[in-house]
Amino acid sequence: PTAPVNVVVTGAAGQIGYALLFRIASGQLLGPDTPVRLRLLEIPQGVKAAEGVALELEDCAFPLLSGIDITDDATTAFDGANVGLLVGARPRTKGMERGDLLEANGGIFAPQGRAINAGAADDIRILVVGNPANTNALIASAAAPDVPAERFTAMTRLDHNRALAQLAGKLSVPLTDIKKLTIWGNHSATQYPDLYNAEVNGKSAAEQVDEAWLRDEFIPRVAKRGAEIIEVRGASSAASAANAAIDHVYDWVNGTPEGDWVSAAIPSDGSYGVAEGIISSFPVTSVNGEWKIVEGLEVNEFSRERIDASVAELVEEREAVKALGLL
Ligand code: NAI
Repeated sequence: PTAPVNVVVTGAAGQIGYALLFRIASGQLLGPDTPVRLRLLEIPQGVKAAEGVALELEDCAFPLLSGIDITDDATTAFDGANVGLLVGARPRTKGMERGDLLEANGGIFAPQGRAINAGAADDIRILVVGNPANTNALIASAAAPDVPAERFTAMTRLDHNRALAQLAGKLSVPLTDIKKLTIWGNHSATQYPDLYNAEVNGKSAAEQVDEAWLRDEFIPRVAKRGAEIIEVRGASSAASAANAAIDHVYDWVNGTPEGDWVSAAIPSDGSYGVAEGIISSFPVTSVNGEWKIVEGLEVNEFSRERIDASVAELVEEREAVKALGLL
């Protein structure tokens, strides 16, 4: 029997945590042959609710779940951790400036980065879900100098899945007919969902839709889908976010299918003119457990402008975080 993989979930008592933990414990994160031990990290006020979730996990009698630890101490949570899903974050509240938001999150992600640096297993893989996800991942990575930077990633897979669904709906094709779609940049309203390199049944996706739809409906709909969910559901997306986190980690560990790619925010090596070192979304494949940027794609003028705008936002966030002494 294989040893259990230690999976840390921060913000475990929150709504994404509730949608995520049962799927991890059922084997959907790592596959049906890998037992998991869950580590739930919460703030002190969240510990009791996390204990309640643990009771329910127990009641599912998942054969792959080998144990659950609950703590409010990051060092304890990340000791020996193999996978970290960093979901808990400080949300933007009314009147909060970007600097305040980044500072508050620095107070969460820098200590978690230090805890990862101190005790995580050598194969640690981090996915940051909590917003502002890309820059929170950068903060955590900077606080973990002994962990290779490429182990810190941020989630744009929900945006990717939203874009797939919108395009499939528009063209009335099954989702499986669509390949090579990309989200570029920041997980924010500036993100750029790229159809110019995407294919539907092997043919250019952009050529099958009109430019007005692409520019005025598709791009804003995908970028503002989070706000649409809040408006209609009365709460922010949770199950779909948890689903995307599962997709991201599953593909990272198990590999992406031949002839296709996915989107993930990973540290830039300067590809496609994206400022080196920021954690930005790219077209990626996973080979032998490592994300690789898909190289050599054509970036037309329309795409260039939008990628540059989102990257500029990430560079500004990095500058703001630097000014706070977090990098
Ligand atoms: P929630 O408010 O329901 O839950 C957050 C939980 O995190 C709470 O239980 C809270 O006690 C806990 N928490 C706060 N600070 C913590 C810390 N320092 N350590 C451990 N736990 C801590 O929020 P929800 O809906 O689960 O969302 C979580 C985050 O995910 C938010 O930042 C949200 O913006 C983000 N998100 C990101 C998406 C993406 O595509 N990247 C999509 C949807 C949400």
